[in-house]
Amino acid sequence: MSKIIAITSGKGGTGKSSICSELGFSLAKQGLRTLIIELDFGLRCLDIMLGVKNDVKYDLGNVLKGEIDVTKATTQVKMAENLFIVCAPEDPFAKVDAETIKSICNEMRKYYEYIIVDTSAGTNASVFDVVEQSDLILINTTPDPVCVRDARTMSDEFYKRGNKKQRLIINKVNPDLFRAELITDFDEIIDTVGVQLIGVIPDDDAVIIATSRGEPLPNNSLAFKAFDAISKRLQGEDVPLSFKVLLS
Ligand SMILES: Nc1ncnc2c1ncn2[C@@H]1O[C@H](COP(=O)(O)OP(=O)(O)O)[C@@H](O)[C@H]1O
Ligand SMILES: [Mg+2]
Repeated sequence: MSKIIAITSGKGGTGKSSICSELGFSLAKQGLRTLIIELDFGLRCLDIMLGVKNDVKYDLGNVLKGEIDVTKATTQVKMAENLFIVCAPEDPFAKVDAETIKSICNEMRKYYEYIIVDTSAGTNASVFDVVEQSDLILINTTPDPVCVRDARTMSDEFYKRGNKKQRLIINKVNPDLFRAELITDFDEIIDTVGVQLIGVIPDDDAVIIATSRGEPLPNNSLAFKAFDAISKRLQGEDVPLSFKVLLS
């Protein structure tokens, strides 16, 4: 059974694309065939984050124009044998139609165990249609109150449209502030957004270094452990959610 997971947020810069790449690397490492579909039109970045900048021959733009089949627009990630990407069109005004993207995602279910969809912040109407029909929506926020409120707005909209399968990722949590007990718990964030937590990711320079080099995270980094835990939870494994446990 394949699973389509959409990563989204209300605000930009919360780490959606970084989460897509690192979750992709993490699932692939566990032997799961994973495809990332980048829907942030005109703001392509995953080719760099996944180290395939020079390997991309075709992208979603070619598929939407009817020039090629989506399987031909798929690029293998060199650093991970089970990881593949369909890059966003470079043209910010490429014509998107939700039905076509939905049928592309569904067609790819045959070949992949996980399909991760990266979106732009707030998402335009047609991307929204694709996200709302995913098997799971990962709403991403940082601890910043503005960002948390925007996450709530997004989540409410998805609930209204009938998608109840949502989980929350809190990203960029400063481990030093947490250790100093200046951030005590995440209950307030979870209550405000109103979505069950699936993982907390530390603010970790390893993410910036890995994504700018186009490499997976080093195994000994805190962020690696956070993504490893999230990918296991996605498969139903019982991994402790506590950030304290992650930092210990
Ligand atoms: N956990 C993290 N720790 C440190 N930096 C991060 C983390 N997650 C994302 N970043 C950085 O934040 C910036 C925005 O991330 P990005 O994934 O592009 O966000 P989005 O796709 O939501 O716009 C990038 O510079 C990225 O390296
Ligand atoms: Mg992005």
